[in-house]
This record gives sequence, structure tokens and C-alpha cells, in this order.
Amino acid sequence: MSFVLVEKADRIAWVTLNRPEKLNALNNEVLKGLDLAFADLEQDAEVGVVVVTGTGEKAFVAGADISELKSLDTASARVQALRGQAVFQRIESMPKPVIAAVNGFALGGGCELALACHIRIASENAKFGLPEVSLGIIPGYGGTQRLPRLVGKGVALDMILSAEMTAAADALRMGLVSRVVALADLKATAEKLAKTILSRGPLALRSALAAVNEGIEMPQDQGLQYEAALFGLLAASQDMQEGMGAFLEKRQAQFKGL
Ligand code: COA
Repeated sequence: MSFVLVEKADRIAWVTLNRPEKLNALNNEVLKGLDLAFADLEQDAEVGVVVVTGTGEKAFVAGADISELKSLDTASARVQALRGQAVFQRIESMPKPVIAAVNGFALGGGCELALACHIRIASENAKFGLPEVSLGIIPGYGGTQRLPRLVGKGVALDMILSAEMTAAADALRMGLVSRVVALADLKATAEKLAKTILSRGPLALRSALAAVNEGIEMPQDQGLQYEAALFGLLAASQDMQEGMGAFLEKRQAQFKGL
């Protein structure tokens, strides 16, 4: 059985981390499976939204695999960090929305995986944390960079330096996740959100992701220029004519991504 399952239905791809006996911990085989899955999904024109979740009711991903990490030395640890970072960078750079449906522990690399996704929704039992300093290391798959960008430096340093877990309700309050639902409702909530997003203009979604993901790394005046350039490009699209025409004609838009 593969450690990374991919199911596609109704333009939604469900990527499930599937190593439940180790709480879906990210060993190199899982990382490679994730990378291959996202490389395929990026190219698949039939897929409009990706949802990432974990097998079981206990864990999304309980971190990088500690048994693999323990044997690293200085050179190989750096390479390992770069390997994990590259996989998560691929996810963050996806030109279609990626939703993390966090169904339990999202610790270490699991928290970093969720941070690389564009939207995070969580079940009430979910727990987030970056426990690395309790293991004598620091987060190495992007946590020290993405967490402060998402929740601010002070809250991020609290989580990173204390290594304490954050419950779903607190994660919602601090903006680490945008929705919290009962575990039994998580999949349906993710699906509903994915379907809502799929009803929007595909070119607009792609541009919105680029404007936010790339613009956040720019000084604001450059980000505003970038936003205006993308806004201008969309004005040449059939999708804009369709979206505005449908509004004025009081009907549902039928976008073609053109
Ligand atoms: N790497 C490797 N194995 C892991 C793992 C990880 N990050 N997280 C859990 N596992 C394994 C456990 O070793 C155990 O394996 P075993 O049954 O062969 O002994 C199995 O998954 C179940 O975990 P267990 O610790 O028994 O479950 P629990 O309910 O008592 O505790 C956690 C759950 C999440 C609190 C605990 O597993 C934990 O702290 N995991 C490590 C979290 C972490 O530090 N992640 C960051 C890594 S950089």
C-alpha cells in the first residue's frame, strides 16, 4: 500500500498521507510520494483544487520521521532540510488552490506541510505544534519562515520556542487555520469549500494565488504594481466577460479558463 494516496473526483484531488501506524510521519518515501503526486496534479488539467489530509482520526502528520532524522550529520541534515523545503515549495507554488484538511496532530513537518498549503481547515481534535527544539533541532521544512509570515513573529516564536501544542480553537483565534469543524464534518467541509472555489474563475484563482503568494515577498509598492498587472491581464480574458455578463444577466457564470 502506498504511503501517499491520490483520488480524483469532480475536479478535486484528495491527497491522503497514509502511514497510520506511525501517525503519518514523513519519512523520505512519503516525501517523495508527495512530490510526485503534486508534480502530477500540477499538470492535470482535470484537477482544479487539491485537498491534503491524513489517514485515520488521530493524525494529519506527526512530523518528519524521527528515526530517519536521528542518523543525520551536518551535511546530510542540510540536504534533508532542502529536500523537504523543495517539496513544500512545490505545494505552495501550485497554480491551483491547495486545502489542508487537518484531521489530528499536525506537528513538526506536519505543521509545516499545512503551512505550505494555501488554506487550512481543521477538525476540533486537531493539534498544531513545532516541537523541534524539544528534539534539539529547529523546524527545517519551512516552519521558521512560513509561520511568522502567517501568524506574526511573536506568536510564531511562542510556538517555536515553547514547542507546545496549540489546540484547534486557539489555532483559529490566531489565524493559523481559517475554519474548525467536528472531525465527522471535516471531509464534507473541505469538499464544499473546494466546490465553491471550483465555481470561481480559474484564471482569476491562479492570479489571486500569484498576487498573494508572490506579492507578500515584495515591498508593498511593487506588490501593488504586480496586482495591477495581473488585474490588467484578466481584463483580456473571456472569463471576465463571462463572470460580469452572468452577474448582469442574473445567472450562474460558466467559466472556461480562457
Ligand atoms: N517520527 C517517527 N515515528 C513517529 C513520529 C515521528 N515524528 N510520531 C509518531 N511516531 C510513531 C511512534 O514512534 C509510534 O510508533 P511505535 O508504535 O512503533 O512505537 C507510533 O507513531 C504512534 O505514536 P505514539 O507516540 O505511540 O502515539 P501517542 O498517541 O502516544 O502520541 C504524539 C502521539 C503525536 C504526541 C507523539 O507520537 C509524538 O510526540 N510524536 C512526535 C512528534 C514530533 O516531535 N514531531 C516532530 C518531528 S521533527
